Amino acid sequence: MINLILFGPPGSGKGTQAQKLVEQYELLHISTGDLFRNEMSNDTPLGKQAKSFIAKGELVPDEVTIGMLRNKVEANPNVRGYIFDGFPRTIAQSVALDTLLSEKNEEVSKLIMLEVPDDEIVDRILKRGETSGRTDDLDSSIIRNRIEIYKNETTPVYDFYSVKGKAVRINGVGSIQEIFDRLCDEIDNL
Ligand code: C5P
Ligand code: MG
Repeated sequence: MINLILFGPPGSGKGTQAQKLVEQYELLHISTGDLFRNEMSNDTPLGKQAKSFIAKGELVPDEVTIGMLRNKVEANPNVRGYIFDGFPRTIAQSVALDTLLSEKNEEVSKLIMLEVPDDEIVDRILKRGETSGRTDDLDSSIIRNRIEIYKNETTPVYDFYSVKGKAVRINGVGSIQEIFDRLCDEIDNL
């Protein structure tokens, strides 16, 4: 299996690139943000639990997010691999992911970080907010909060996989196709 973590700050293009990677490599794309939004639009208990955190740009508690991710993986065992988008966002989530994959005799193949400067991120997310229907995309102070949380709580995930020799960073600025080509270079030499 190829098990990728598509990593990077909010608005770095993870979802956009994941869609293209799915076509190229026939992997299952799991976006925890999309899973939460789906739960919220169906007004499920999980959606209700996540809502207030997401509205403020904060992280949903690990046990909630990990449980949801585990359900999604276990519901889709026979795939060629997974693209994890927006997960793991904390060290606890990274440990849980490694445990989950090891139960399948699998492991994370690579973590690829899309690097994008803060100002560009804010511009991109505000632009996305015009059409995404996401309230957390509309307010620049919430966006800044998401970036801060990424720096404080999520970047340690990069180091967690870096010490295992599994983390790489690529330039996340450029055309969608240019960034896709950079990602494919990394995946093809796995
Ligand atoms: O990944 P995405 O940016 O779509 O996530 C949207 C929001 O969902 C995050 O800002 C956060 O509130 C929540 N989330 C989370 N933990 C994750 C993924 C998403 O708390 N692992
Ligand atoms: Mg996304």
